[in-house]
Amino acid sequence: MNTIELITTAQAMMAEGKGLLAMDESTGTCNRRFASLGIPQTEEMRRQYRQLILNTPNLGDYISGYILYDETVRQKADDGTPLLELAKRAGVIPGIKVDTGAKDLALHPGEKVTEGLDGLRERLVEYSQMGLKFAKWRAVITIGNGIPTRACIEANGHALARYAALCQEAGIVPMVEPEVLMDGNHTIEQCCAATEETLHTLFDQLYVQGVLLEGTILKPNMVLSGLECAQQASVEEVAEMTIDAFRREVPAAVAGIVFLSGGQPSELASARLNEMNRRYAGKLPWPVSFSFSRAIQQPALELWRGDAKNVAAAQKALYHRARCNGAARRGEYTADMEKDAEVPA
Ligand code: 13P
Repeated sequence: MNTIELITTAQAMMAEGKGLLAMDESTGTCNRRFASLGIPQTEEMRRQYRQLILNTPNLGDYISGYILYDETVRQKADDGTPLLELAKRAGVIPGIKVDTGAKDLALHPGEKVTEGLDGLRERLVEYSQMGLKFAKWRAVITIGNGIPTRACIEANGHALARYAALCQEAGIVPMVEPEVLMDGNHTIEQCCAATEETLHTLFDQLYVQGVLLEGTILKPNMVLSGLECAQQASVEEVAEMTIDAFRREVPAAVAGIVFLSGGQPSELASARLNEMNRRYAGKLPWPVSFSFSRAIQQPALELWRGDAKNVAAAQKALYHRARCNGAARRGEYTADMEKDAEVPA
């Protein structure tokens, strides 16, 4: 294991004032988002959309890394440049989703386990040769009646640790994503308990597999009230309960924490991340930033709608959300920033 290379990459991903842009939606997920806006669900439209993102001027001001999808790293821009090359030219670190999706967990109705370990060593060698520096694996934990079970939490923690070890063997930084879903009517306390148990088990498994935490990035959910819960926690409560949970369960050696957005409204995701960094500035052992997909992309996707004449407006919206989240990374985001959606000339 090349520990220096892993640590250097992980630290570059956590660059001051920056976060990551997740654009690794699987074909099915990307198509569902396209369908909801009347965009044709074709490989060509996915190519055009990913090209739009990677061609956004100056996105690297606030984005340290892109999480790409296998289809994207094999596609080319209109002028023949590989899309992967566009990321590299912009000085943004390219990474890739490597799990093959969450499948039903046997004997455990309503729960999932993420697959993709078979053949992963060989895929990682190819990705490393292509210049991809980090890899993401998403596990899904659902809160409901009697769930999550130990079976689900342990199966997913074990798979995450096995994938993380394979990544580090290949010189690729693992971005481990145990996502406790916000769907449901559970309270924020229930989310906190499920998140803590998930993280506790995950770090135990990472230890057992010998994964180097200094060369690992954690991509978790924020601790939130369930979407259908009548009592919605305030921005301050979310920041406090999230940081309390992470202080208890995430070792100080971890290179950084980058939150997923999980379907939160874009501005609320920025406000919550901001509150964590504002309130706890200088008091946390790890940098805390973002790795959002929907909370960065959704406004841009709604503007683009598959029409070439909307590309510039969509890129402006992407830059704006990246800038707001870059400020939230520093604890300097304000609601006023939302009025000022300018891009540099
Ligand atoms: P969201 O920010 O939309 O939750 O996506 C993050 C991600 O990478 C999901 O795997």
